Amino acid sequence: TPETGLYTELLDVALEAARRAGALLHEERPEGLGVAATKTSPIDVVTEMDLASEKLITAYLAEFRPEDGLLGEEGANSEGSSGVRWVVDPIDGTVNYLYGRQDWAVSIAAETAGETVVGVVAAPARGHVYHAVRGAGAWLGGERLRCRPAPPLAESLIGTGFGYVRERREAQAEVVARLLPQVRDIRRSGSAALDLCDVAAGRLDGYYERGTHAWDYAAGELIAREAGALTGGRAGRPVGPDLAVAASPGVFDELQPLLEALGAWHD
Ligand code: IPD
Ligand code: CA
Ligand code: CA
Ligand code: CA
Repeated sequence: TPETGLYTELLDVALEAARRAGALLHEERPEGLGVAATKTSPIDVVTEMDLASEKLITAYLAEFRPEDGLLGEEGANSEGSSGVRWVVDPIDGTVNYLYGRQDWAVSIAAETAGETVVGVVAAPARGHVYHAVRGAGAWLGGERLRCRPAPPLAESLIGTGFGYVRERREAQAEVVARLLPQVRDIRRSGSAALDLCDVAAGRLDGYYERGTHAWDYAAGELIAREAGALTGGRAGRPVGPDLAVAASPGVFDELQPLLEALGAWHD
């Protein structure tokens, strides 16, 4: 089909852009990297490398896909005329990157008609490159990913994250306090994109978070779905900033209603 050719081209572009940005971040991480600026709160940080990565990706896309639109966390925002829009997180897991921890990634998704059709999440410090193409599966390198056969929720390992809007953190902690006794355990990796890839790869049974943005979840959500996971937001709606849930199908059916009941969302 005509889509197959387009999707293959978009995948190749996304893989190469993520490879280049990942190499820059991994190999050129400055000694004594510090915080360049703060955003919504003093704990919501950006480093010079977030900006350098977004600049590299923006320039690469402008060269090879000049007609496409682009949304990037650090400010890239253009309409485009081709019907394709890129959604880019130049470092997902900036706090981990700042501290020299391993769970950070470059996340690049391509949308057509508002639907994600290609997703790439490259995590160089883990040595992992994940990708998915709509209808063609999710992959870690050459290995096809399948989410984990669902255990009961009580035996599920659940990932989550906390946004950097400080006023919301107490409420997020209350949800964790209520959820923790009802599951096997909880993980907080510090990268929403990798949490979603971990659901895809069977390293988590489920993941939820409130307050994430399209650049955090666009690529990872497609990777999770193509690995057989269910994803969604509040009340049958798609994943959104108010709530993002991804899990093995059996776990999703228990986790999503429980999160609704615990008020794990915001308007
Ligand atoms: C953050 C990470 C983190 C999540 C936050 C995100 P950033 O992205 O994905 O895991 O809990 O909500 O903002 O700022 O490191 O790109
Ligand atoms: Ca950020
Ligand atoms: Ca992010
Ligand atoms: Ca980021």
